[in-house]
Amino acid sequence: MDQFSQAILTLVSILVVVSSICYFKFLSKSAAKSPPGPWGVPILGYLPFIGADMLSKFSQLASKYGEIYMLRLGNKLCVVINSPSLVKEVVRDQDNVFSNRSPPVAAFIGTYGAKDIAWSPNNSEWRALRKVFVREMLSNRSLEVSYTLRRNEVRKAIQQVYKNGKAAVEISLLAFQTEMNVITNLLWGELLEGEDEEIYGKKFCAIIPKFIDLFGKANISDFYPCLAGLDIQGIKRQMESYRHAIDRILNDIIEKHKKKLSEGVTEKGRKDFLQILLELKEKDEDSISDTQLKALILDIISGGTDTTASTIEWVMAELLNNPTVMEKAQTELAEVVGLDNIVEEHHLPKLKYLDAVVKETLRLHPAIPLLVPRSPSQSSIVGGYTIPKDTMVFINVAYIQKDPRFWNSPLEFKPERFLGNGCDFSGNNFQFLPFGSGRRMCAGLPLAERMLMYFLASLVHSFDWKLPNDQKLDMSERFGMILRKSVPLVAIPNARLFDSNLYM
Ligand code: HEM
Repeated sequence: MDQFSQAILTLVSILVVVSSICYFKFLSKSAAKSPPGPWGVPILGYLPFIGADMLSKFSQLASKYGEIYMLRLGNKLCVVINSPSLVKEVVRDQDNVFSNRSPPVAAFIGTYGAKDIAWSPNNSEWRALRKVFVREMLSNRSLEVSYTLRRNEVRKAIQQVYKNGKAAVEISLLAFQTEMNVITNLLWGELLEGEDEEIYGKKFCAIIPKFIDLFGKANISDFYPCLAGLDIQGIKRQMESYRHAIDRILNDIIEKHKKKLSEGVTEKGRKDFLQILLELKEKDEDSISDTQLKALILDIISGGTDTTASTIEWVMAELLNNPTVMEKAQTELAEVVGLDNIVEEHHLPKLKYLDAVVKETLRLHPAIPLLVPRSPSQSSIVGGYTIPKDTMVFINVAYIQKDPRFWNSPLEFKPERFLGNGCDFSGNNFQFLPFGSGRRMCAGLPLAERMLMYFLASLVHSFDWKLPNDQKLDMSERFGMILRKSVPLVAIPNARLFDSNLYM
């Protein structure tokens, strides 16, 4: 064989090998089947069977179909992920593809057309906004400087409970009002003080819980986008009215801030978040639009108040339900802080047991149990199954965090399991994801961790707590965008510090 024929033969062999590889790859890709899942009925899919408690239904289906399953709700294709290894495929190996969101109608309207962080698609605007929030507003330095604000609000709450003597306290309400005050103070408390600040805080307290609940409400327009124009349940109209009310308040606050800044009323050593944002805008007009600015503020208020307040309520409920755990947490506080002293943020890193209590509570009662749904930007393979582009992907954290394959006695409340196991909230352990994981994980984590620990430590250190008339505690859950207690926790405080001045 001459040299030319030899070269042709080699080339042909290479082409045969390469094309066979490509062909088999194509075959294996196109042969990837759909995930298993329950059958539905024509047009409605699985909608008639989902019931009022979607979370329990999703977990029942996980027990039947395993790590991943697919179901159709109306016209919407949904996939639910139920195992740590598949979570890793979604949030780590293919994070870029799965970092899109597909906001329900209510969330789209409520966030100025997904111009915020939580519901924005995975694009350069989202990256820029998230970067501003995390780097400029939630840096260690910024949080250290704003400690006085958090301290004032937590002290006010403790004082209020003390002054009311042994009157019953609705824990979630107290926590919500305190978190709202902390957040609104961080946002605009340096430049807006006194009456103005209080009025705005009250207005937000009245609207925000209803606003968040609407995000999680089952909406026919989401299952049948072709019917969205009819807005059959009136959810779009309702959301528009909340958004307008909020918009008026935000415009007012922003104008007042701009006026104060133009008058040079800025020098106090601390800057509030709104001031930081307005200064960034002034430096670079294109950095953040006015709409993004309002959407970001709304994200911080809605993402930061209800989640934290509900978690505080669950921790207190678990402590009351487990008196030996309460005793251990109080003993630790007495040792670290002392009964002749009040809790400060610098005590928090030493409160290892309380930290384990918070983690164990978030394992059993994750505030956002299905995370915020993701939506792949292209068709992808997960666990060997095809997930078409734009499918709604839920990660069932509530199921994974109670799976007996990964947790001993998973339904028991045992904070000890978190002592010295190195498990944190960073989203690197795919069996424990209360703040999510990957590039879409909770952007407010540094603030959330501080607020949870500081407020809880103060409540548990300052008072002994018991249920009214030794009632039995109801621990049932109510699923919505946020996992709440069905029956709000009410508890009676009894001061435990040595000196009444410590409550002033
Ligand atoms: C107990 C408190 C909190 C819990 C349990 C919590 C949990 C979560 C979870 C599970 C997600 C979705 C993550 C994912 O889809 O992978 C999320 C997203 C988010 N959270 Fe939180 N959160 C809390 C507090 C806060 C606070 C205090 C803020 C702000 C001040 C905040 C702001 C956000 C934002 C902006 C996002 C959207 C991130 C994105 O899509 O890029 N959260 N949070």
